Amino acid sequence: MSPTTIESILQEERLFQPPDTFSRTAHIKSMEEYQRLYNQAQADPEQFWAQLAEQELHWFQKWDKVLDWQPPFAQWFVGGKLNISYNCLDRHLTTERRDKLALIWEGEPGDSRTFTYTQLHREVCQMANVFKHLGVHKGDRVGIYMPMIPEAAIAMLACTRIGATHTVVFGGFSAEALKDRLLDAEAKVVVTADGSWRKDAIVPLKEQVDQALAGNAVPSVQSVLVVKRSGQLTHMDPGRDHWWHELRADASADCPAEPMDSEDPAFILYTSGTTGKPKGVVHTTGGYNLYTHITTKWIFDLKTDTDVFKGADIFWCTADVGWITGHSYIVYGPLSNGATTLMYEGAPRASNPGCIWDVVEKYHVTIFYTAPTAIRMFMKMGEDLPKARDLSSLRLLGTVGEPINPAAWMWYYQVIGGERCPIVDTWWQTETGGAMLTPLPGAIPTKPGSATLPFPGIVADVVDLEGNPVGDNQGGYLVIKNPWPSMIRTVYRNPDRYRSTYWEHIPPKDGQYLYFTGDGARRDRDGYFWVMGRVDDVINVAGHRLGTMEVESALVSHQAVAEAAVVGKPSEIKGEEIVAFVTLEEGYLPSAELVKELKQHVVREIGAIARPGDIKFTEALPKTRSGKIMRRLLRSLAAGEEVTGDTSTLEDRGVLDKLRS
Ligand code: PRX
Repeated sequence: MSPTTIESILQEERLFQPPDTFSRTAHIKSMEEYQRLYNQAQADPEQFWAQLAEQELHWFQKWDKVLDWQPPFAQWFVGGKLNISYNCLDRHLTTERRDKLALIWEGEPGDSRTFTYTQLHREVCQMANVFKHLGVHKGDRVGIYMPMIPEAAIAMLACTRIGATHTVVFGGFSAEALKDRLLDAEAKVVVTADGSWRKDAIVPLKEQVDQALAGNAVPSVQSVLVVKRSGQLTHMDPGRDHWWHELRADASADCPAEPMDSEDPAFILYTSGTTGKPKGVVHTTGGYNLYTHITTKWIFDLKTDTDVFKGADIFWCTADVGWITGHSYIVYGPLSNGATTLMYEGAPRASNPGCIWDVVEKYHVTIFYTAPTAIRMFMKMGEDLPKARDLSSLRLLGTVGEPINPAAWMWYYQVIGGERCPIVDTWWQTETGGAMLTPLPGAIPTKPGSATLPFPGIVADVVDLEGNPVGDNQGGYLVIKNPWPSMIRTVYRNPDRYRSTYWEHIPPKDGQYLYFTGDGARRDRDGYFWVMGRVDDVINVAGHRLGTMEVESALVSHQAVAEAAVVGKPSEIKGEEIVAFVTLEEGYLPSAELVKELKQHVVREIGAIARPGDIKFTEALPKTRSGKIMRRLLRSLAAGEEVTGDTSTLEDRGVLDKLRS
């Protein structure tokens, strides 16, 4: 964790007040209103969440009990019945929103499609019926390995509609990584596309699926549903593979939403932890639906009128649906609110570096939510690209995924937001389901680089390893104190891992359980939180979370590698970059070719997001006498910093000297 710096203390002095014009129409209009909601939630959390659940969602059957908390296992709205897909679609069909745009999609080559709520509902029902036809029942798992095309969202909503549990695997993951996740989830069906457009080329997604399933490697998978996107020749296994457009032709558009128990699983999403094996984070139905709904409404101040002239928002979250951000703020949160959500297949590339701003201009996007890595990249590309477009439709900006440096924050505020758009820096995780520390844009003044204050109903603190709160501006561990509706329920098929990862690092304090986030943070004198990044063996590359152990396992699976240690090194654009220290097996010699080969090997094992920026060969790794690799030393070395702190536990100091030289 980086120490508190003078610079960061100084930043606190710069407060950005919400513009009056914004506050006047905002859902939450003032700091006093935020405080009132916060206090109300703290005084009686169950009453607070129950009232919102009643107001904001449709329930087929009301719950008997708001919260059942058997630490660390929570159940919300016990006995209640609802369906997320119903809340995202059907309930809007009886209102004027039926003809409103639910989804705007822009493809990389410039093609586009739009869906009204009525049209999206129809597609979702058809895919749900296709799933049923393929033998998917309530409780079965469906793997979704898709490009950023409408059918990705349609598949998710079709699963939740019939009570199948989806597990979306980011399309940038390799066949190997896909296989591991499908195996763990025991998926029955996989939804994919022939290919995906990526930076002017086609990525053959279906080929990756074929590789993952080759030799019946995932015996649970019975069928693969393939969406035609890129149109290249694709091998279809006659017993297993089906074209979506063929099955859709005969699929009925009538598929009532299955009443789900509030605690029935909604989805599993795999994320990196501190071991070599990703964790299947389980989210359930009622609490997830409620928390993503209300955070989307208040944090993004969503206006869901049917008429753009009355201020209806066009909400663009640039994440991929393969990450939690895409689940919560492209699909479920915006649609549950009846908003228009935008999905974009492309990314800035040499042939079209200004494409992001073209899309904002073309669709009059009002709310834009992206990652600091993207903002730093836009900064580097210069002001001319955004300035050549009309970005005056924007009224709110957001960031997520990693700490934002004040310089990038200011650039975003001035160049993209024209100094009129508040910025919401939202801190949260796959496990939290929705944003936890965040400004409410009409109410909470912002400070560049701070995720500000907890959302009403969330109790956060910064503590030491014994659970004692640390003082103002002291570094410590960020924890969450009370259960909240969209919290992770368990690690799929591994409740012990759930307990030990999140609830045992810091012991309960005076009977109070503390959820361990894995992040270091400090709180300033105004109570504002400054998240400094991971304190565990997780690194954050371009806002993507990777376990150092995952990358190490990938490296040692190569025949030339005896041992590997992976650390993050600060990077100007990506936040962090992967550096691997590698010792070689007998008979292998360091070479530039081997570096290249090992980088490629990691890409094959995990995916391009895990490609090490640098590989350093060493004769030995610095270890303690008990054999633990001292990553702290490697981090300093990778960053080119002086190695400071205690090195007395090193088994062999010579290793460090050699590495230094
Ligand atoms: O380290 C924190 C960082 O991203 C981690 C969570 O990663 P993931 O589960 O992939 O979810 C990312 C999107 C919600 C956190 O533990 N992080 C996320 N948001 C912020 C952040 N760090 C600083 N500021 C943020 N706003």
